Amino acid sequence: MTMRHPQLRSDGELQHLLTIEGLPRDLIHRILDTAESFVGVSDREVKKVPLLRGKSVFNLFFENSTRTRTTFEIAAKRLSADVVNLNINTSSTSKGESLLDTVDNLSAMHADMFVVRHAQSGAPFLIAEHLNRIRGNEVHVVNAGDGRHAHPTQGLLDMYTIRHHKKDFTSLRVAIVGDILHSRVARSDIHALTTLGVPELRAIGPRTLMPGGLEQMGVHVYTDMREGLRDVDVVIMLRLQNERMRGALLPSAQEYFKHYGLTREKLALARPDAIVMHPGPMNRGVEIESAVADSAQAVILQQVTFGIAVRMAVMSMLGAQ
Ligand code: CP
Repeated sequence: MTMRHPQLRSDGELQHLLTIEGLPRDLIHRILDTAESFVGVSDREVKKVPLLRGKSVFNLFFENSTRTRTTFEIAAKRLSADVVNLNINTSSTSKGESLLDTVDNLSAMHADMFVVRHAQSGAPFLIAEHLNRIRGNEVHVVNAGDGRHAHPTQGLLDMYTIRHHKKDFTSLRVAIVGDILHSRVARSDIHALTTLGVPELRAIGPRTLMPGGLEQMGVHVYTDMREGLRDVDVVIMLRLQNERMRGALLPSAQEYFKHYGLTREKLALARPDAIVMHPGPMNRGVEIESAVADSAQAVILQQVTFGIAVRMAVMSMLGAQ
């Protein structure tokens, strides 16, 4: 018997977006195609589309964010939704209210969609399961990053950016560099790139920041950055997730930059038309040299802009049901 993915409905459509793991390839491409149709709207050539008119989107960010929270808000507004940004610091969670009690109360205000970021892996899953029980298929949850587990819309906007520049996934060498162990972005990117048929996926970083099981997922592990970058088409740099590290896993930021910082000299080992990506926030001089971050090969700010169209695509596909 085959198990249905919990975020998918029986007809194969998305009920929630919680993870990229297990999403079919054609569904990922359909999200990217839908995003492409929104690029004009997200660039403000067209002001708004009415696809979520009358719907309420609640942004619940229990962890800091600049890019994700803001682009979700812009995306929801461009779909004509009513957007509520809950200020967690001044909300009743600070008085001891449980996560699900907070959700129940917001749900009683007729929320149609929750966008959730939480430091605990699995928090958006918990909310989605709870809402399925009490509201059936009425309410949708989008995971905006949970602990070290998943950041599916970041993964999707990364795929959108790669497809925009490279067109075809099936002939690419992609390197993900840095703190893979604590990175939800790395996990979502690995699932997406594998599903989309990237034939050579490399993880580059110190052993202490490399999770087990990568080889079983078809990822080639490199501890030597120069070896790992050779002839790649795409370089995805990651931030050191200091807030998720327990104990000393690295000698110092300077030492890290020396071995795993992306400099012009190291980037020259990749293909001449390689693109450089970073989900942000970016630490210049720790994981990336300013001259690279600001170079023509860097598509880091484009990722942010594409994030609006990708989040519009996800929310409109969920809200259409
Ligand atoms: N990429 C990303 O999630 O950035 P924020 O933490 O600013 O949302």
